[in-house]
Amino acid sequence: MLARPRIGPFELPNNLFVAPMAGVTDRPFRQLCRRLGAGHAVSEMVTSRKDLWNSLKTSRRANHEGEPGPIAVQIAGTDAAMMAEAAAYNVDRGAQIIDINMGCPAKKVCNKWAGSALMQDEALALQIIEAVVAACAPQGVPVTLKMRTGWCAAEKNALTIARAAESAGVALVTVHGRTREQGYSGLAEYDTVAAVKAALKIPVVANGDIDSPHKARQVLAYTGADAVMVGRAAQGRPWIFAEIAHFLSTGETLPAPRVADARAWLIEHLHDHYSLYGELTGMRSARKHIGWAVQGLPGGDAFRRAMNQLESCEAQVEALNQWFGSLAEQHERLPYLPLAETAANDDNDLTEEATTRRLLA
Ligand SMILES: Cc1cc2nc3c(=O)[nH]c(=O)nc-3n(C[C@H](O)[C@H](O)[C@H](O)COP(=O)(O)O)c2cc1C
Repeated sequence: MLARPRIGPFELPNNLFVAPMAGVTDRPFRQLCRRLGAGHAVSEMVTSRKDLWNSLKTSRRANHEGEPGPIAVQIAGTDAAMMAEAAAYNVDRGAQIIDINMGCPAKKVCNKWAGSALMQDEALALQIIEAVVAACAPQGVPVTLKMRTGWCAAEKNALTIARAAESAGVALVTVHGRTREQGYSGLAEYDTVAAVKAALKIPVVANGDIDSPHKARQVLAYTGADAVMVGRAAQGRPWIFAEIAHFLSTGETLPAPRVADARAWLIEHLHDHYSLYGELTGMRSARKHIGWAVQGLPGGDAFRRAMNQLESCEAQVEALNQWFGSLAEQHERLPYLPLAETAANDDNDLTEEATTRRLLA
């Protein structure tokens, strides 16, 4: 049985979260991940800047049509009053949970003193948290917080901020085991996640480099976290959630998905994607999803290059159908190395010291 963490009044179906990824975790992708086993999905960041609320990009990001609840929307910004307004605006448009982003290292965000840059200014971070909690409380909407371990290795203040956030009424905290300075380089460490979990009463989610069912189990055991959040490993392989769920429940690894099933999921995802973005934008932005889906499969790279030349949604679907069709003639199941074997570290040592040693090796 998988744990079922709570976020305020909501009991989630399981403890496997898909990470918010700008440009990736739009409504179609979130729904696909949920269908394939994710218990919670946070939508991409929505800016707290009012002037951008009516832009097509923001309104697509805020599209939750047919999405199962609870609907969680992430906001990012630098100003407490604006963040409170953004939270209220999203709640009015259907958000049932507001997630504050203090974990994104993207330049565009950090230059404006948002995302993980906020971790450098604890007082401002707390002001924002308090303002957002106050804006959401009248509607009974819980607030969650996503952050990194700190600004840099010498200033890991996740624990301080997490404690303050809990006291301010935050309902759940996610920690990505890297500092802002690291970006996505190096390896995630889990000691800080474990320390945050040990200090807090609210649920804590471990994030960073979880790329297989084995790794998910190791990280849950090592940190004591209530849930794991998976980002990049779900790109092109959204069934990783079902694989993790099965492994955590039974101790056994699932075989790779049938080629025919993967084809059907992908094509359904593409149609959903095109209907959100329209023909031209949809065709272009679908390329990355298709590229990820064929990555690691025989002939996948050549197919991706050829597919990138296609200029219509119809041609994309047709090419994909054919490619998976011929793959299915030779293989019943996706011919990947099993995920468990490709896990980055089968090394069980998740301590910060061991992580540093592996990095320096
Ligand atoms: C393309 C991309 C976009 C991301 N966008 C966001 C975002 O909008 N908000 C956020 O909190 N984190 C964002 N992240 C960070 C992820 O949520 C996650 O913390 C990070 O990728 C580490 O998890 P992973 O190792 O499982 O990928 C993004 C990551 C990627 C790769």
